[in-house]
Amino acid sequence: MLRRLHHDQPDSFAFTPDNLKWAEAQITKYPEGRQASAIIPLLWRAQEQEGWLTRPAIEYVADMLDMDYIRALEVATFYFMFQLAPVGSVAHVQVCGTTPCMLCGSENLIEVCREKIAKNPHQLSADGKLSWEEVECLGACSNAPMAQIGKDYYEDLTSESFGHILDELVAGRVPTPGPQNGRYASEPKSGLTSLKEYEAGRAPQNAAVAMATELGDTIKRIDGSEVPVSTPWLGKGKGAPRPTPAKTSAKTPNPAAPSDGVGTKPELLDKARPEGPDDLKRIKGVGPKLEKLLNQIGVFHFDQIAGWSADEVAWADENLVGFKGRVSRDDWVGQAQRLAQGG
Ligand code: FES
Repeated sequence: MLRRLHHDQPDSFAFTPDNLKWAEAQITKYPEGRQASAIIPLLWRAQEQEGWLTRPAIEYVADMLDMDYIRALEVATFYFMFQLAPVGSVAHVQVCGTTPCMLCGSENLIEVCREKIAKNPHQLSADGKLSWEEVECLGACSNAPMAQIGKDYYEDLTSESFGHILDELVAGRVPTPGPQNGRYASEPKSGLTSLKEYEAGRAPQNAAVAMATELGDTIKRIDGSEVPVSTPWLGKGKGAPRPTPAKTSAKTPNPAAPSDGVGTKPELLDKARPEGPDDLKRIKGVGPKLEKLLNQIGVFHFDQIAGWSADEVAWADENLVGFKGRVSRDDWVGQAQRLAQGG
């Protein structure tokens, strides 16, 4: 299947303050220089916030992780869990079509989707509230056929019960997830054959359904305020949270935009000297993207950075769009002095 970015993109993306705090905490899980490892959780959170993964969101996350846009795009387009086109404003429905579900009637569920949502997968319903797709086994085969809607599983479905669930969602209600045929969990349809002594004392719902009901976030967009950010690993030798990237525009991909408002602009070059540019990536904390940005604003050599005064560092800290504060935080001047001297 060809996975491309949608033709119609929003102008910008930014995490909500709570999601940003969460994302910055995730990044600190990884050693310095390995922040790109956080790409999947951050893209996933962007999708949880917006419903689908937009180009500005992919670029925003790439900026946060100091990655080239193409690297983040490769991840987003590789994994089918990332939705690259707008999804229903209420819910995106994923019907399992793998063998056990197919044998138990998933093709009927897909027919319901075609009738009630849209003829084709990844197409919005007429009112924009729902979208659907067929997916591979979701690991609930013992409760086939099933569908994932938002975060939760609806199991033991029939055309009727599934149709009713979709109607309820459109009407603004969220049906209780879990088995829809009266089963408690995945016991035999005819009832328990063992462990019967526990039947009387069990909770009214199985643990997964109880948690889904308690959290109430089945089809909710996640703004980060749901669970407080917990960072027990901080203060144990791991890195500090990364700085916030600027809002990324779909049409203008985050250019270097120097301003003269803060600090003193250092002397910059139009191009590298004849001997060629230094490999600025040897400065700890500078990746390919940041090196490109430095070259764009006129920094090509270690000795340029090595000579920066405190005021010039302040200017650079302010004007490396998307990487504010990086110059002083990583002591670029000290590093560049050692590198300029062959260290
Ligand atoms: S085959 Fe449908 S959940 Fe496994």
